[in-house]
Amino acid sequence: MAKDGISVGIIGFGTVGTGAARILLENADLLRQRLGFPVRLKRIADIDTKKDRGITLPKGMLRADANEVLNDPEIDIVAELIGGTRPARDFIVGAIRNKKHVVTANKALLAIEGNAIFKEALRNGVQVGFEASVAGGIPIIKVIREGLIANRILSIYGIINGTSNYILTKMTDEGLEFDRALKEAQRLGYAEADPTFDIEGIDSAHKLTILASLAYGIPLSFDKVYKEGITRITPQDIEFAGELGYKIKLLAIAKCADKKVELRVHPTMLPKDYLISKVDGVFNAIYVEGDAVGDTLYYGRGAGDMPTGSAVVSDICDIAKNMMSNAKGTPVFFTKTALRVKDITEIESMYYFRFSALDKPGVLSKISGILGKNNISIASVIQKGRRVGEAVPLVILTHGAKEKDILKAIAGIDRLPVLAAPTRYIRVEGPETG
Ligand code: NDP
Ligand code: HSE
Repeated sequence: MAKDGISVGIIGFGTVGTGAARILLENADLLRQRLGFPVRLKRIADIDTKKDRGITLPKGMLRADANEVLNDPEIDIVAELIGGTRPARDFIVGAIRNKKHVVTANKALLAIEGNAIFKEALRNGVQVGFEASVAGGIPIIKVIREGLIANRILSIYGIINGTSNYILTKMTDEGLEFDRALKEAQRLGYAEADPTFDIEGIDSAHKLTILASLAYGIPLSFDKVYKEGITRITPQDIEFAGELGYKIKLLAIAKCADKKVELRVHPTMLPKDYLISKVDGVFNAIYVEGDAVGDTLYYGRGAGDMPTGSAVVSDICDIAKNMMSNAKGTPVFFTKTALRVKDITEIESMYYFRFSALDKPGVLSKISGILGKNNISIASVIQKGRRVGEAVPLVILTHGAKEKDILKAIAGIDRLPVLAAPTRYIRVEGPETG
């Protein structure tokens, strides 16, 4: 007999689970009008059934045991919204083996164990939706899989961690030190209790892993993403960047050329007048360049109950539509391409250096001599203040150079007796880097 609607179960009634449940309950009529059939939230499981989540559920809907969702024969789609790797993976695989479709926001799990999860889904003939796993409410997965399906994706530049973007914005606008800006982010509930994933670039790398796999048809390759966080960025670097006409953002970058892919997350100096440089606070933005469409930019809230809930419900509706029309859905990853992921030492970029150099004659020529010997050409120099015989910051911006040459040059410069502290460097994107 034909189904008269689709039933959904949610595991994890926290921030995202609450948002998704609210949308499914409060917008049920709207969804029914748009889809032409009802999507019914049947059950929610969370280990804490007592906590007030600010939402009234029908009696009996909330249970403590996830098995009541996983083993309910009436439930067609399971949304895993507990986060972490275990038992999240077991719930997802359990649902798949019970022939239930799955929706998840769990980028950390997908980036590391997604290849096996998608294989299992394929074997069992079910779909896995993961729109909420990257950039919360911005439908970037759909953009890459569907909207830009006609394009070769040349590059992706993303501000995809709201916490880091908030911290860098505070440091830029108010001159705060990193630690104070982080405390502020924690006070406002943006940063995780343990914010390591946010500030060390790991969360952005999880999300970039997923985007790059879709864009380039490579297996999910979290281990191959270069990761560098924002913990060593100082207000002084931000100020020098500003003087040179740049802002510092934590960027997730994927580029593809000559059968090689670059995957990297690091603080990046971007020209102030680029649209993406103006994305501040907890907002996310993703720039995608396709060979046919050219430049495109997507902006919005990358986290929060309702924005992320919006993405979860979007996946639920897509899968529901496929189920009602007996469609299989688009295969997710095409892991047969011959692209190789580059090591960070193979990339080319422009670079910002901040040397702590003694203020005395001949120092600049020693440093520029080593840069020259390593094929690094200087674009601008700033030296402020006069403290004869003491260390002062000397800032140099380069033209395009090879990272392996940069590393060699820094090793040589840091051995000079006139250097008082290790050299800091930040990669710079701009017209010279494409
Ligand atoms: P929360 O911690 O707010 O919610 C998770 C919920 O799941 C908690 O209520 C938790 O209970 C419950 N839970 C944990 N273990 C179990 C279990 N075994 N059975 C049933 N319930 C369980 O997390 P979020 O909602 O913030 O995040 C959920 C997922 O969404 C994560 O993968 C996250 O990375 C992702 N995400 C989150 C975004 C956000 O804005 N928060 C944005 C984008 C993605 P208890 O608290 O008692 O442990
Ligand atoms: N911790 C993440 C952020 C949440 O700050 O963007 C959304 O994935």
